Amino acid sequence: MEERPKLLILYATQTGNALDAAEQVAREADRRGCSVKLLSVDEFDAVSLPHMGAVVFVVSTTGQGDTPDSMKGFWKFLLQRNLGRSWLEEVHYAVFGLGDSGYQKYNFVAKKLDRRLSDLGAVAIVERGLGDDQHPSGYEAALDPWMTSLWNVLNKINPKFFPNGPDYIFPSKQSIGQPKFQITYHAIDKIDSQFSCSSARRMSPAKFSRDKSRPDCFLKLVKNQPLTKEGCGRDVRHFEFEFVSSVVEYEVGDNVEVLPGQDPALVDAFIQRCNLDPEAFITVHPVEMMNYLDAHANAIATPIKLKSFVSLTMDVVLSYFATAPHEKEKLQYFASPEGRDDLYQYNQKERRTVLEVLEDFPSVQMPFEWLVQLVPPLKTRAFSISSSLAAVPNQVHLTVNVVSWTTPLKRKRSGLCSMWLSKLDPEQCIYVPAWFNKGSLPPPPPSLPLILVGPGTGCAPFQGFVEERAIQSATRETAPVIFFFGCRNKENDYLYREFWLSHTQNGGVLSETKGGGFYVAFSRDQPQKVYVQHKIREHSHQVWSLLSEGAAVYVAGSSTKMPSDVFSAFEDIISKESGFPKEAAVRWLRALEKAGKYHVEAWS
Ligand code: 2AM
Repeated sequence: MEERPKLLILYATQTGNALDAAEQVAREADRRGCSVKLLSVDEFDAVSLPHMGAVVFVVSTTGQGDTPDSMKGFWKFLLQRNLGRSWLEEVHYAVFGLGDSGYQKYNFVAKKLDRRLSDLGAVAIVERGLGDDQHPSGYEAALDPWMTSLWNVLNKINPKFFPNGPDYIFPSKQSIGQPKFQITYHAIDKIDSQFSCSSARRMSPAKFSRDKSRPDCFLKLVKNQPLTKEGCGRDVRHFEFEFVSSVVEYEVGDNVEVLPGQDPALVDAFIQRCNLDPEAFITVHPVEMMNYLDAHANAIATPIKLKSFVSLTMDVVLSYFATAPHEKEKLQYFASPEGRDDLYQYNQKERRTVLEVLEDFPSVQMPFEWLVQLVPPLKTRAFSISSSLAAVPNQVHLTVNVVSWTTPLKRKRSGLCSMWLSKLDPEQCIYVPAWFNKGSLPPPPPSLPLILVGPGTGCAPFQGFVEERAIQSATRETAPVIFFFGCRNKENDYLYREFWLSHTQNGGVLSETKGGGFYVAFSRDQPQKVYVQHKIREHSHQVWSLLSEGAAVYVAGSSTKMPSDVFSAFEDIISKESGFPKEAAVRWLRALEKAGKYHVEAWS
């Protein structure tokens, strides 16, 4: 029998979104019977790319049009001159990018990868798909139609990809085969006592983390302090963590990923709903390695309490397990192309958890092996670091917006990680697994004049910048710093007010006597909105003179529209103050960017 072709999916992710998207592609292909291999680009030997047949790339763009860290080596390899124009002539490829149209270099990585692959002779089988964070439905809005074209074209290239055609989704338990994990239960008296302390978070991160196999360190929570007035509609908090065993030598502008825990009551309810024994000790082994799931690290060789394994979000393939006909029908409808919009509403928009879905479909009884396979692992969340190690040598501080919102059906929802953090009590000895990453804001040398723009929680990294510069200024000459901050009201959400004001006085880093400045835009204290960009315009003269002295600009905060509005404000003031025509001012700013002196870190 001729061998079935295998679809290779390579992803490059910085925060995990591209991995999510790549997994969706893998899952959808798998459900159609296509044989799939999913790998991070840094796990793939680029030398073998010409022999891979069909390759799907799912890549995100970070910072100012940068490739994710995991893609740097691969990209450097692809740029080698000696590869030649026919190096990839046997390869069919498709690129899906994840980006944010609020940035100048929207989906830059996907675009340049597409161009380079084509220059090397590879054949694009579908037009590259571009997911946009700014879209109300996120990148999925573009991913769905893109995948549909992908299946059709792949099927044309080689019908063997899909044994029953690209539209056929295997409907029955038999045809989806055996679960890909096997669970072994262990007798409790054989387990080392350290495993019975039920400290799930201490044990599971190494297993559940996606890009790295183990946390850099555990952080002990020592402070959880609200920064906003109660009842003002916003809950922003300051967290202080201590390094426990080893200190990670982070720099200002870096960020940290933490693995959240979950509400124990929900975990218990889930375990009960699924008729599982929370106290059982288990190990989980993959049955079949050559499957896209081998990118999941949720196999676990050391016995762990079953309770520790329960990490929840939603997946769809539950219809295989529903026994009551009406429930089965509804789940099958959800899984059909016609049901996609309703599924999207049910699942994504309403953010239903797996537990809620199981409660909506009481006849579903899913074996634990399948739960392990289908429930996506808990994800880490990244936050900008708001401290400087020079100021707090054994600590790392975070500024976290506790996100909550109401779904279209008026259900209250909140950000899993921020809500979890907000409820933690420092008295209770909480250890949080953490991974440190370089952010897109490089630490500035003391001699570099700075223009910082950070409304809302965008102020987080700049607290570290100011702290560090204050320490440096005690022993040497330092260049001036101007900080444009923004919040809604002076009374409600003026984050770190005392901190900033203390640095504007007595020759502080932000003081006038040091050539610095601290300007706050209160957006809701008057009928008209006042934003950071208005303050930049108001202080155009000072901004331009610092820019002319070689200052670097750092912008951080919510990505919605702020970064592009701020960029336009800089264009305007450069033109006004320098007397350059607008086009020349734009060129001047682009040159600043090119010189690595205009940095943006935005989040949604
Ligand atoms: P608003 O919510 O009153 O519109 C931190 O979130 C601050 O950033 C708030 O004061 C918020 O104002 C403001 N903000 C919202 N959109 C912005 C934009 N496009 N540019 C600058 N600041 C903005």
